[in-house]
Amino acid sequence: MEVIEAIRGRRAVRDYANEPLSRETAQALIQAATWAPTARDQQAWGFVVARDRAKLRIWSEEAKAHMLRVMGGDLAQVGFRAMVESRDFNIFYNAPALMVICATSPDPMAREDCCLAAENLMLAARDIGLGSCWIGFAEAWLNLPEGRAELGLPDSWTPVAPIIVGRPAADWPPAPVRRTPESIWIG
Ligand SMILES: Cc1cc2nc3c(=O)[nH]c(=O)nc-3n(C[C@H](O)[C@H](O)[C@H](O)COP(=O)(O)O)c2cc1C
Repeated sequence: MEVIEAIRGRRAVRDYANEPLSRETAQALIQAATWAPTARDQQAWGFVVARDRAKLRIWSEEAKAHMLRVMGGDLAQVGFRAMVESRDFNIFYNAPALMVICATSPDPMAREDCCLAAENLMLAARDIGLGSCWIGFAEAWLNLPEGRAELGLPDSWTPVAPIIVGRPAADWPPAPVRRTPESIWIG
């Protein structure tokens, strides 16, 4: 697949087939992620691969409860409160795997590095027919001591990019329309 095809064809997938993500595939996605550029070539990232759907379901409940505790009003404002309150809503959409890219250095640029690694990972997934979705809903809870303990993180690791990965259950979802960005041209 051409790079531009993967860029345009990648979609946030929120419905997954009941097919596990193999260790080899997860490893290949990590490899692709590590080809991203990094500030001062630090490569200060680490990867957690969680492939236990039942555990993800439990983590989803914990993350939802945390969100409702600390940002219930904000969720209501953006129209997400009822969804987060619903027992049926799994923030990980029953995906077979969650891959969490973590900064392993306090260097502020390590976060940017993790974001670039995340895009590489999602494009590499698209290349082999897998869907993915960055789950921002998980970030706050994963950064709490409880979340960190579940991930088994060393003290120096900070979760940055929680990404679910798996085989889409159905057709690729339609692409949200891309607005023409404002741009400033100099020269
Ligand atoms: C930082 C970030 C956080 C996101 N968090 C969530 C999330 O918690 N739940 C979700 O369903 N999608 C989440 N998304 C996916 C976006 O909603 C999605 O990328 C966007 O709607 C555009 O759709 P596309 O990725 O198919 O082009 C997140 C994306 C990014 C980049």
